[in-house]
Amino acid sequence: MASNSSLVTTTTALFSFLVLYLAVSFSNIAAKHRHSTTTNHHPHHHDSNASNPRLQQAYIALQAWKRVIYSDPYNTTSDWTGPSVCKYTGVYCAPFPNNTDILTVAGIDLNHADIAGFLPNELGLLSDLSLVHLNSNRFCGILPLTLSNLTLLFELDLSNNRFVGPFPSVVLSLPALRYLDLRYNEFEGTLPSELFNKNLDAIFINNNRFMSVIPSNIGFSTASVVVFANNNLGGCIPPSISKFANTMEELLLINTNVSGCLPPEVGFLYKLRVLDVSFNKLVGEIPYSIAGLAHLEQLNIGHNMMCGEVPSGVCELPNLANFTFSYNYFFEEEGVCRNLTSRGMASDDRRNCFPEKPLQRSKKECDAVLEHRVDCFEHPCGGGMHVEKTTKKHRT
Ligand SMILES: *[C@@H]1O[C@H](CO)[C@@H](O)[C@H](O)[C@H]1NC(C)=O
Ligand SMILES: *[C@@H]1O[C@H](CO)[C@@H](O)[C@H](O)[C@H]1NC(C)=O
Ligand SMILES: *[C@@H]1O[C@H](CO)[C@@H](O)[C@H](O)[C@H]1NC(C)=O
Ligand SMILES: *[C@@H]1O[C@H](CO)[C@@H](O)[C@H](O)[C@H]1NC(C)=O
Ligand SMILES: *[C@@H]1O[C@H](CO)[C@@H](O)[C@H](O)[C@H]1NC(C)=O
Ligand SMILES: *[C@@H]1O[C@H](CO)[C@@H](O)[C@H](O)[C@H]1NC(C)=O
Ligand SMILES: *[C@@H]1O[C@H](CO)[C@@H](O)[C@H](O)[C@H]1NC(C)=O
Repeated sequence: MASNSSLVTTTTALFSFLVLYLAVSFSNIAAKHRHSTTTNHHPHHHDSNASNPRLQQAYIALQAWKRVIYSDPYNTTSDWTGPSVCKYTGVYCAPFPNNTDILTVAGIDLNHADIAGFLPNELGLLSDLSLVHLNSNRFCGILPLTLSNLTLLFELDLSNNRFVGPFPSVVLSLPALRYLDLRYNEFEGTLPSELFNKNLDAIFINNNRFMSVIPSNIGFSTASVVVFANNNLGGCIPPSISKFANTMEELLLINTNVSGCLPPEVGFLYKLRVLDVSFNKLVGEIPYSIAGLAHLEQLNIGHNMMCGEVPSGVCELPNLANFTFSYNYFFEEEGVCRNLTSRGMASDDRRNCFPEKPLQRSKKECDAVLEHRVDCFEHPCGGGMHVEKTTKKHRT
């Protein structure tokens, strides 16, 4: 699926960025290592807790954390003993930004350690952390409120764990946060509008149990990547989506139970490269404004209940490489849309209502839905009721 590949692209891009970021922010670590191997001892940069209160605090925090780790199958934390916290596996120290003579814990990377446990309150003592990567573990429970002490935290990756509860609002209080990855957890409830007002570059909240759609009262967001996929958002995509216009490059709303019409404001997201709203209950026509998305590379509106014609303006988009509109009720392909292969584009028009094409829905199936077409000007967020029933019938 293109959605998968775009997720991968995004993740890869994010990862390369991080590697770069780590390389820059921790370049001094290497220097330190070189130094300490050539000269046995350096008066500054003590990595034991003896003379450095920051590392003493880190010691307290990491020992408290170790006490609430109940399973560590790869023995990742088995060297978390003694005062030299900078030598602990997964713990990265760097000189404190203001005062390069002071070494402090700047990063924690326990990705793929499969650790089970909690995050204790004492993590608030690690106040100089800029990166926390806990991807693919079995951490559970909720995030401690003391994390609000992490005023330098830039990147927080809690993906693929077992965190629960409402959206962890404590992350909204982190002034330096740019990357927030909460995907594949069990967070539930509504998404706070502040999430989209924060100065974040990437927001991954897919595969949780969130229930609200993008709040309508958001200010202008700065996020370039927002992945909502596989949540039960429900409701309609609000016109306020246009508030993402200046930065949004990838919008993935796959399988989020959104309904109603695709708002024309989607066409305001002029930087979009990937738009995937597949596997939802969208009705109505393709807004013509999408023909203005000059950077769009992947467009997937498959598996919805959209109808009308597929406009040539969209099929002629200069950068579009993959246009999937299968499993809808479109009944006409305009101009070049009829043969996208001839434009070298990947496309899928199966299971629609195109009279001349193979692998289409039956006339009966098409008529049932097309009799109750939704007028998106009059009911941008409605009219799904009857169609919804019809589709349930088709899906079973
Ligand atoms: C195009 O996108 C669809 C839907 O996301 C995906 O299944 C298909 O593999 C993609 N095709 C190519 C050639 O990338
Ligand atoms: C972890 O340590 C335990 C006890 O020392 C040992 O039995 C086990 O084999 C170790 N596991 C790995 C993956 O090294
Ligand atoms: C320093 O670390 C040692 C463990 O090696 C611990 O016993 C001691 O309490 C620590 N000191 C402080 C002030 O944290
Ligand atoms: C570090 O410098 C910033 C300004 O650059 C200042 O606001 C902050 O208080 C300083 N922190 C410490 C611990 O000195
Ligand atoms: C916050 O960090 C400071 C050190 O920067 C520390 O003294 C304080 O105890 C921390 N607060 C919490 C709640 O952990
Ligand atoms: C999908 O969202 C609607 C609200 O738009 C809600 O009534 C419905 O229960 C949701 N569907 C599922 C399967 O939860
Ligand atoms: C679409 O165009 C390609 C190349 O121009 C051609 O080989 C193919 O037969 C066309 N398909 C249809 C359905 O007209």
